Amino acid sequence: MNHPKRVVFFWLTLRNYTFPVIMATTDFKKMILEGIPGTLPAPKPYDPTLNHAPKRKDILSPEEKRLAIRNALRYFPVHFHRILADEFARELYSTGRIYMYRFRPDYEIKARHIDDFPHNSRHAAAIMMMISNNLDIAVAQHPHELITYGGNGSVFQNWAQYRLAMKYLAEMTDEQTLAVYSGHPMGLFPSQKDAPRLVVTNGMVIPNYSSHDHWERFNALGVSQYGQMTAGSYMYIGPQGIVHGTTITILNACRKLQSKNKNGELRLFVSSGLGGMSGAQPKAAVIAGVISVIAEVNPKATETRFSQGWVDEVITDMDKLIKRVNVARKENRVVSIAYQGNIVDIWEQFARNNIRIDIGSDQTSLHNPWAGGYYPAGISFEESAKLISSDPERFKVLVRESLKRQVKAINIHCERGTYFFDYGNAFLLEASRAGADILDSKGNFKYPSYVEDIMGPMCFDFGFGPFRWVCCSNDPADLEITDKIAAETLIGILKNSPQEIKQQLSDNIHWIQEAARNRLVVGSQARILYADSEGRIAIAKAFNSAIKNGIISAPVVIGRDHHDVSGTDSPYRETSNIRDGSKFTADMAVQNVIGDSFRGATWVSLHNGGGVGWGEVINGGFGMVLDGSEEAEKKLNLMLHWDVNNGIARRSWASNSGAIFTLEREMKRTPGLNVTMPYIADDKLIEEALRQL
Ligand SMILES: NC(=O)c1ccc[n+]([C@@H]2O[C@H](COP(=O)([O-])OP(=O)(O)OC[C@H]3O[C@@H](n4cnc5c(N)ncnc54)[C@H](O)[C@@H]3O)[C@@H](O)[C@H]2O)c1
Repeated sequence: MNHPKRVVFFWLTLRNYTFPVIMATTDFKKMILEGIPGTLPAPKPYDPTLNHAPKRKDILSPEEKRLAIRNALRYFPVHFHRILADEFARELYSTGRIYMYRFRPDYEIKARHIDDFPHNSRHAAAIMMMISNNLDIAVAQHPHELITYGGNGSVFQNWAQYRLAMKYLAEMTDEQTLAVYSGHPMGLFPSQKDAPRLVVTNGMVIPNYSSHDHWERFNALGVSQYGQMTAGSYMYIGPQGIVHGTTITILNACRKLQSKNKNGELRLFVSSGLGGMSGAQPKAAVIAGVISVIAEVNPKATETRFSQGWVDEVITDMDKLIKRVNVARKENRVVSIAYQGNIVDIWEQFARNNIRIDIGSDQTSLHNPWAGGYYPAGISFEESAKLISSDPERFKVLVRESLKRQVKAINIHCERGTYFFDYGNAFLLEASRAGADILDSKGNFKYPSYVEDIMGPMCFDFGFGPFRWVCCSNDPADLEITDKIAAETLIGILKNSPQEIKQQLSDNIHWIQEAARNRLVVGSQARILYADSEGRIAIAKAFNSAIKNGIISAPVVIGRDHHDVSGTDSPYRETSNIRDGSKFTADMAVQNVIGDSFRGATWVSLHNGGGVGWGEVINGGFGMVLDGSEEAEKKLNLMLHWDVNNGIARRSWASNSGAIFTLEREMKRTPGLNVTMPYIADDKLIEEALRQL
């Protein structure tokens, strides 16, 4: 395939001077193929303009610190060790981790045309494009610490791992598979063409060693990492990925409130967080047609979302905020407002001032409560950031007090009619652990999770989940074509669809038709679209034939968030509406990854932690490269079918009515599908059986 001669732009730092450099792609390719460089690169200055990970807890014993440095030095020839041992010791003491900052490459890391990456396997080049997007400074939350989102969602643990992984991918053939253990590229192993090119595991530990402190210790030692869901699996597509899910959630939350709607008055949605995923809330609220107020303590996060146009207004003063909300209500005009401050203050002050909140949630990173995921009320953002490492016990006390205050105020609003739901960030779990008044008389949470109430019964049980794709040409024109193809495909499916899924299909058709206008792309040319098994397969097939016919100019990667029908076992989130007692098992997520791997995935990943914290969830995902070939069509049919229907089978076995409906329909039209269906017992009968004892 012919491509115009491309150039690569990057910043080079020499003796503390940084200047722009333009280079040919051949030089860029050489730098990737270099892997760990033969001569020590110059140390990198700290870039204060970027968002950096907070200093982590000082958890290692002196002996373990020695081990962490010894572990880090394994990546480098012995003649580098004198300089690097000193430097890594300083990094460990100043950040709590060894990121190996000096080895961050000088070229700009971002998604680009797959043929700009050196490769022997085009599928491996697609993976390099996806990794590069996850570390793009316009996309990643803490790019220099290799963290994409969620405060600790790592792509790699350090820059040596990045360099080695890129080199392996550049060199590998379609007869090899790369094994990555929590960011560490273990190496290339002989394999076969139909096998995945890459298998990733993140944070897989022996179950008894899965507490938050275990993560701190193993990560500081450099032997494990928290991959979140799409960070360590290279499937992040910027905040767009979450805008769609959040729009669906807010839309359906409004539908649940329909009976209370008075005179077409706009709803008010209040939540917190303008970070990686949470930053989608104001944009989604506008698309869903509600007024929103989102609190954010970190001024850099607020500024990022405001400058990207994801939030309309920023207000730092509580009185002004209350006045502004009253005006928006009076004018009945959709607006999204960022409150630069703590969410606890909004809940308390709005209660005091009788501001009615219709829908409420929280998206602080409570899956990571002690290391910067949640900033307590009453002290400044800067003071909190210091306390995390200087006095972790005091910080814990403040977080617990803050959560208790927050819940107390939320309870007041809910008594007045607010519909509050947990947004999958472990808010209810951590609030209950903090001793907040969040449990009912039976010991259950007072409020539902968004999956329990909305996502589970309305989407996942019917197979609808966050399908996504990325154009490997990195060309917006290709994305436009894929949007059109996807919309036409879903419109075709809607005509003959059963009543039960018409609303879902219509919402998603509307979404994809408006997607370009909503300017959602940050980073790679990617799109998300909730679809069921039938929709995902039909769209992927249509893409594959458009690639074959040259209508789309280069391959397309398809994948999904792990937060899906089958990808995630998480008892307080994705599987919170599984009520047969199996929600603390993780067979579904593990089966899913294994099943995807031999049905044609280009890469698969299995993670401990993601969303709600280490030890609280097992999840997995895949990436598949569509290259217009016949093999790709065969693989997409087989793999996407399993990838969705595995979870529906589990949900149906748990007796969820939507899933039973979906599976019965699926079995009628899919030869070879024969799933064990449940007989539903009469509760009265069970009561009688127990009474006779
Ligand atoms: N959006 C979704 O659909 C979705 C789905 C599942 C889970 N989640 C969960 O939501 C959480 C947030 O994800 P993220 O990627 O945005 O994380 P993030 O860490 O990038 O953002 C969280 C933001 O909350 C801010 N914050 C912390 N404490 C605060 C406080 N008391 N008041 C105001 N702001 C505060 C932080 O400064 C940060 O910017 C995670 O736990 C994630 O797993 C979101």
